[in-house]
Amino acid sequence: MEGDKILVTGGMGYIGSHTVVELQQAGYKVVIVDNLSNSSIETIGGIERITGIRPYFENLDCLDYVGMDRFFSKYENIKAIIHFAASKAVGESVQNPVAYYRNNVNGLINILELMPVHGVQNIVFSSSCTVYGQPDVLPVDETAPIKPATSPYGNTKQICEEIIRDLIFSGSAMKSIILRYFNPIGAHPSAEIGELPIGVPNNLVPFITQTAIGLREKLSVYGDDYNTPDGSCIRDYINVVDLAKAHVIAVKRMLDEQQPEPLEYFNIGTGKGLSVLELIAIFEQATGVKLPYEIVGRRPGDIEQVWANPQKANTILGWKAETSIEDTLRSAWAWEQNIRREKN
Ligand code: UD1
Repeated sequence: MEGDKILVTGGMGYIGSHTVVELQQAGYKVVIVDNLSNSSIETIGGIERITGIRPYFENLDCLDYVGMDRFFSKYENIKAIIHFAASKAVGESVQNPVAYYRNNVNGLINILELMPVHGVQNIVFSSSCTVYGQPDVLPVDETAPIKPATSPYGNTKQICEEIIRDLIFSGSAMKSIILRYFNPIGAHPSAEIGELPIGVPNNLVPFITQTAIGLREKLSVYGDDYNTPDGSCIRDYINVVDLAKAHVIAVKRMLDEQQPEPLEYFNIGTGKGLSVLELIAIFEQATGVKLPYEIVGRRPGDIEQVWANPQKANTILGWKAETSIEDTLRSAWAWEQNIRREKN
């Protein structure tokens, strides 16, 4: 219902902030919990400039059980939670696995324990196509088997999905929608919010835009000897605003009690795979900027190719990726130019 209060954990982060914007524009009242470990307080100004509304924000860590308990008491009557707060760097998770398990798994457990205490029944969980590993069948749909995780980060997503599943099958009154994202990219068309990687970006598109603006000398393309048409890896790049909208639909579905089962899984992707080299070519053509790059060796742990079958989300949620890849890459580029202007 319009005006219902939604808690967004990690709401200052990349996908979280875009989702806050869409929730507010759909009439929901948003409260954000974020420890700012991988986000900036300035994001709240961007959200306010886009929507005209400053969301409630608490600088709080989901690992702080007592703090979270107090939070739920303060902002009573929360109808649903979208749980983004988690760490997401694959390489870092290999270096520091225990910290990843603590942060991603314990954060979720705290929330799941506090939900019934405070009468909250609905949770949307941020998962990833990483749970499918290298799928045997492409495009991959939600019935595909879960493959052994290739990193502690990927394993935290599998474990969190399992914890939610076990809780719901225990006969609890809880309901959940698990969204498995493919590769979110781009920024809000206003260029007021976007991805803010700290240090050298791990992900492809922030590395592309930082190279295009001259912050990095050249992009390394990790491998051109894969079994794909041009030899580079293939991913399903989904516009972050389109992705954010899937969360609003999921929340509405739960609050309107439209779920036939208390636990549902949806792939959120475009249904189209693009190679790294294709993405570079589209970026150059869409922005008019030449991108220096070189082919280097494979990145350990990379999946060769994965793209979504988003049919289930298309038909059951009525959600569909709408933004073209050109507009999405232009939005990432506009955002990069905007943040560099602000920093200079
Ligand atoms: C990875 C995770 C995904 C996670 C996401 C969030 C796996 C298998 N995938 O996605 O679950 O949600 O990170 O951080 O664990 N590339 C380059 N040069 C670069 C950077 C990337 O060529 O400088 C290539 C990669 O080899 C890959 C593609 O670009 O083929 C996309 O890479 P990236 O943006 O890092 O995302 P994933 O690895 O797909």
